[in-house]
Amino acid sequence: MRAAHVTQYGDPDEALEIVSVDPPEPGPGEVRVDVEAVALNHLDVFARKGHPGDEGDFPKRSGCDIAGVVGAVGTQVDEERIGDEVVVYPGVSCGDCEFCEIGEQTMCAEYEIIGENRPGGLADSVTVPAETLEPKPEPLDFVTAAAVPVTFTTAWRMIVGAGELRPAETALILGASGGVGNAALQIAERLGATIYATTSSERKADLLEQWADEIIDYTDTPHDKAVLDLTDGRGVDLVAEHVGEETWQKSINSLAMGGRMVVCGATSGADPDIDIRSIYQHHRQIRGAPMGNRTQFRDVLSLVASGELTPQIDRVLPLSDIAEGHRAIENREVVGKVVLKP
Ligand SMILES: NC(=O)c1ccc[n+]([C@@H]2O[C@H](COP(=O)([O-])OP(=O)(O)OC[C@H]3O[C@@H](n4cnc5c(N)ncnc54)[C@H](OP(=O)(O)O)[C@@H]3O)[C@@H](O)[C@H]2O)c1
Ligand SMILES: [Zn+2]
Repeated sequence: MRAAHVTQYGDPDEALEIVSVDPPEPGPGEVRVDVEAVALNHLDVFARKGHPGDEGDFPKRSGCDIAGVVGAVGTQVDEERIGDEVVVYPGVSCGDCEFCEIGEQTMCAEYEIIGENRPGGLADSVTVPAETLEPKPEPLDFVTAAAVPVTFTTAWRMIVGAGELRPAETALILGASGGVGNAALQIAERLGATIYATTSSERKADLLEQWADEIIDYTDTPHDKAVLDLTDGRGVDLVAEHVGEETWQKSINSLAMGGRMVVCGATSGADPDIDIRSIYQHHRQIRGAPMGNRTQFRDVLSLVASGELTPQIDRVLPLSDIAEGHRAIENREVVGKVVLKP
């Protein structure tokens, strides 16, 4: 089968390679998913460029967002599952620790991400534990289904779970054109909150207008100044932050008294230079929000299936054009998701 491997750190053309490898055999409790669509995330860019804590053992294969058809099953898995159309929850956990017991897979000490700690779906086939499979909702095509797991599940935790955003509140969504950002924007809009969204170009701003009350082009005005101007100096109740050190202080400054900043990522770097007084003197809180749990995944999948949330598919490419997908994400050209079809 064909697979897209990262063979070294570097630019897409030098670091990514389409290789021919033996199809994987599902082990006990596993299935082989024949991949119909796999979405890229910023995580795929980190896999190629290096990430703090990254082992750097090559080749590696990313691809966390997988939709496809069960092609084979290992022992302990019912053969009737062959042919099932599925979407994969990207988290794997032990299943019986105190956190797994309460359904918080991402808190498990053994938590792993398919496509980060295990070989991912950028291939014709991938093996995954059978318990990660969720039936693909009938109304969704494979491309749309693949655009849901990482970004929408994370955004749901940010806005609804850890963020606890309420309809009468105000929220600032950073990078609202990106995968997580656009999902967060749609979820906050659906809740009925008043939303300010940042982006970096007029083209992207035009597309985001359908969900946001106000768009902030931070290349014109720093986002804290814009938020304070738009809210008569009050600030917002919630900031959804994933950009990191470039934006943290401004995001904190954008919070109202007692406001919450939810954090799921650090695209620009994880070492912000901040004044901690800007947190405690204003009763502000910073809350961690990594990918959502299995229940949250089911919730977003259901809302996408019913048309309440709509993943934005920026482009669909063959696996062989993976380098183009990486470049588009890295150059911040994308609104929503790049999806590859092996
Ligand atoms: N912990 C978790 O489980 C988890 C899950 C999902 C994502 N994440 C993290 O969340 C972050 C976003 O992921 P994503 O897949 O949504 O990324 P993405 O699709 O590439 O979107 C990132 C967006 O951020 C904006 N941005 C602002 N400053 C940026 C900068 N200095 N560099 C790059 N982009 C910048 C860009 O929009 P503008 O140019 O319009 O501002 C871009 O569209 C990543 O760090 C990712 O690792 C973590
Ligand atoms: Zn566990």
